[in-house]
Amino acid sequence: MIKQKSIDSVMAAVRIEEVVGDFVSLRKQGQDFVGICPFHDDKNPSMHVSPRLGIYKCFVCDAAGNPVKFLMEHEKMSYPEAIEYLARKYGIPLEYERNESDEERQQRSLRESLLIVNEFAQKYFVNQLRNSEEGKLMGMTYLKERGFKDATIDKFGLGYCPDGWDNFTKAALEKGYKEEYLIELGLTGKSQNGKLYDIYRGRVIFPIHNDAGKVIGFGGRILKKDGKDPRKYVNSRENTIYHKSDTLYGIYFAKNAIHKQQNVYLVEGYTDVISMHESGVENVVASSGTSLTQGQIRMITKRTQNITVLYDGDMAGIKASMRGIDMLLEQGLKIRVCLLPDGEDPDSFAKKHRDSELQNYLATEAKDFLLFKADILSKEAGNDPIKRASMVNEILRSISCVKDNIERAFYVKECAKLFDLSENDLNLNLRRFVWEKTKEQSRIAQQQVRQNTPDSQASAASTEPPAIPDLIETKKHPEISQNADLLYEAEKDLILLMLCHGNYIIYETGQDEDTDSEGIRVDQYVCNEMLKEDIRFHYPILEKIFDKYVDWASYIGNQEQIIRNFTLSDDPQISEFVIRNIPVEEPKFSSRWKDKYDIHTHTTRNNVRILQNQVQNILLTLKLRILENEAAIIQKILESKELAEEDMGLALQQMNKIIQIKKIIAQRLNRVVSR
Ligand code: UTP
Ligand code: MN
Repeated sequence: MIKQKSIDSVMAAVRIEEVVGDFVSLRKQGQDFVGICPFHDDKNPSMHVSPRLGIYKCFVCDAAGNPVKFLMEHEKMSYPEAIEYLARKYGIPLEYERNESDEERQQRSLRESLLIVNEFAQKYFVNQLRNSEEGKLMGMTYLKERGFKDATIDKFGLGYCPDGWDNFTKAALEKGYKEEYLIELGLTGKSQNGKLYDIYRGRVIFPIHNDAGKVIGFGGRILKKDGKDPRKYVNSRENTIYHKSDTLYGIYFAKNAIHKQQNVYLVEGYTDVISMHESGVENVVASSGTSLTQGQIRMITKRTQNITVLYDGDMAGIKASMRGIDMLLEQGLKIRVCLLPDGEDPDSFAKKHRDSELQNYLATEAKDFLLFKADILSKEAGNDPIKRASMVNEILRSISCVKDNIERAFYVKECAKLFDLSENDLNLNLRRFVWEKTKEQSRIAQQQVRQNTPDSQASAASTEPPAIPDLIETKKHPEISQNADLLYEAEKDLILLMLCHGNYIIYETGQDEDTDSEGIRVDQYVCNEMLKEDIRFHYPILEKIFDKYVDWASYIGNQEQIIRNFTLSDDPQISEFVIRNIPVEEPKFSSRWKDKYDIHTHTTRNNVRILQNQVQNILLTLKLRILENEAAIIQKILESKELAEEDMGLALQQMNKIIQIKKIIAQRLNRVVSR
């Protein structure tokens, strides 16, 4: 299996004219190339090859596709053969799944050796805890005092490191484990005069498991209170197998429960995790005292979208951690918070209450994070209008992190209630934040593009910052009446408009390109209109393309790059649709005229107007087709004759309304067309 990463690099490098050109002699014609189609018998150059779109297309025999398809059809190659061929042609090294380089193999054997040392250490610590006098007296007594049951101590593999100078290190070296590994793992330290010593001496040991159950590190809690060593916990330092930012304490023991419950509780420390397990709550992990990293979030989102953060009742701490939580929202996680009574942490609370009480508390007290935050801030702001305004904006910023539009709308509604403001006012600011965020994201993405590919395309793209807020809801598909070819055509036209002219600038009615108005991108305008009018796609493939478009347009500045992403897509349904339907000729309107001539020539202005009209035309036509579709569905219902009288009345009413709106749209459409 070739790694997807490699396939992507190949796809980024291929040029359709170079691939086809190896088999067909091509002649330049405008921006494109033409040649004699090898897929049917011909004497004329019916095959067009478009570098701009990354495709070939024969106007006689209907053969069409991307470079991979060409090789598969023409050379009868399999998909991987075609990729390998292209990789050779462009000198791109391919990586294969489960096929490692020497360096990777070395790294792997280092990792394996380190894991083996850790396994030894862990067994040593357990043995000390259970069988040595010191371990039983110091370690076990402490754990029992804390109320941990034997079975739990066993399950989490808790242990004890004796309080000598180098008991553990000596034992490990005697067994033949290398000094350098012990030091790399942070189990052993070396003093200035070269003496080795145990880092965890005199501590209770909490092994840290990765999600496969391997011990990758240790936390050691101090027992003595003599103040010589001020660190309450010693934790493994970063090394080849332990990356703090990719580790969640307890994940191995929580995995199954997380999956089953479809929720995970987030707590602070080792003992919180263990105590909750003892109370029968097993879907719990600890971030180990810091706010979550992206890596830790990924470990969660792999398994569930729902997270409940347990807070102890300390307000200052809560407010400090709130910002970190916005990051979780951006990952699409559904976050709830559960506030524990003042002075309690999950560990102490679990100890003081019966299992069922804890479980009940968690179930009833967990609140939606955003509403919780809004509630707290609203109380804090009191009646001070300036404070309230800035609080509202902070909340809106958080809401703008929420990916799902329906959810966002719901939060706005709640927030409006809470602060006694109109939803409209809130939406206005919310849009600004969403907009700013996408702009920022696209700026970062473009920077990355520029760093990775210093070719001219990327730098040309950077002059037009794309910004498509993800404003369109993805809902289930509305019903389609039997005869809806026209509806399909209208939706298709809208998609093609976005693909061909999405990043062109038009001006909303009442504005003009002559005024100082900034104008609006076609795709942005279409998104706004769809949202405003609640327009949804009826055909799943078109909706899929639309969603992908919105996604790509948010960080790819170059329209043609977006098209090539579609024509080169792994999803055959998508690439096939775009290759079939995208017009091969050059677009009529140039988005760069204005920059190029820096003046508004007569043609420029005309072209912008034509495009503006076309956008209106397509949107109005689509609305008309949607209404016709609805009318057809209602007609069918009316004809079924099984309707109760009052339903009949409702259906007729609806029909009348549709007819009226249709009339208005048809009139407006006429105006646009005849203008
Ligand atoms: P706590 O101080 O709440 O520790 O820190 P705890 O686990 O509840 O331990 P007890 O109940 O006092 O015995 C929470 C977490 O922060 C990290 C640890 O992961 C700890 O579990 N921490 C804390 C450290 O890494 N180092 C420290 O010095 C303190
Ligand atoms: Mn504690």
